[in-house]
Amino acid sequence: MLRKGFALAALGLALVAGHAMAATTEEEPKSVEWSFKGPLGKFDQAQLQRGYKVYREVCSACHAMELMSFRNLGQKGGPFYDEKYKNANDNPYVKSIAKDYQFDDIDSETGDTVKRPGTSADRFPHPFPNEPAARASNGGALPPDLSDMAKAREGGPDYIYSLLTGFGHAPAGLTVPAGKYYNPYFPGDLGSFWKGDATKVPVGGFIGMPPPLADNKVTFDDGTKSTVDQQAKDVSAFLTWAAEPKMEERKAFGLAAMIYLLIFSGLLWFSYKKIWKNVAH
Ligand code: HEC
Repeated sequence: MLRKGFALAALGLALVAGHAMAATTEEEPKSVEWSFKGPLGKFDQAQLQRGYKVYREVCSACHAMELMSFRNLGQKGGPFYDEKYKNANDNPYVKSIAKDYQFDDIDSETGDTVKRPGTSADRFPHPFPNEPAARASNGGALPPDLSDMAKAREGGPDYIYSLLTGFGHAPAGLTVPAGKYYNPYFPGDLGSFWKGDATKVPVGGFIGMPPPLADNKVTFDDGTKSTVDQQAKDVSAFLTWAAEPKMEERKAFGLAAMIYLLIFSGLLWFSYKKIWKNVAH
């Protein structure tokens, strides 16, 4: 028991030391004016639709969104919510998106594995059959699930937007390993790859994701100009919605609670005045 305790303490120390040595740096994310910022902020449905298109046509080639079902897209507040279809399972647009995908199923008579078109209840499909396959296709790096990425990283949508728009030429003097890309917003420790002035090591790191966006890579159905900047904003908004689809309800509830508290404190103040009116103090 005691030995185990020592081993654990040693491991803890090693971890702390390791952490102190790896001085990772990164650029502070750019600050974007999101429609959903602030206590009254709301998602812009057209932006969520464009963002979903970017995810579907670009990011989903490598990144899963395991927590998302097609029907979520048609839920209240979602990209394809339509008042006519309060039950998202009936939303024809959502159904048609799901139908474009093929899923494995078992034939209930023969027991054979068959393919069937997707339904609103299906989850977004995985781009790779398993983790080793995902790594093998990405030079050893694992594309993380994007379902709650906007909450998992500090800076949320600002970080995702900055990362996607932050690719560029590596500073001269920096040796970029094969299959990696320099990005100032991705945390890293570039000291050992830097040949220049040791006090001027570039901030940021090497990421195993090639720059995924390019101008006009996606055609927006609403006619919005398809620049890298626009695509990055829209997909970041979509990922923020996906990570917290009930954000608008939460904010509305918070506001109602604040108003209630204000009125309540007002009432308390007046009753206090009234009760103590004739008492000298
Ligand atoms: C060709 C495959 C590929 C495509 C396409 C791709 N990614 Fe990635 N992505 C990766 C890989 C691999 C990683 C892991 C990189 C690493 O850990 O070095 C990654 C990592 C990320 C991360 C996490 C960064 C972090 O802080 O750990 C985010 C966010 C991300 N990708 C967003 C996107 C978005 C949004 C799109 C679509 C616009 C996209 N990716 C398209 C392969 C891809």
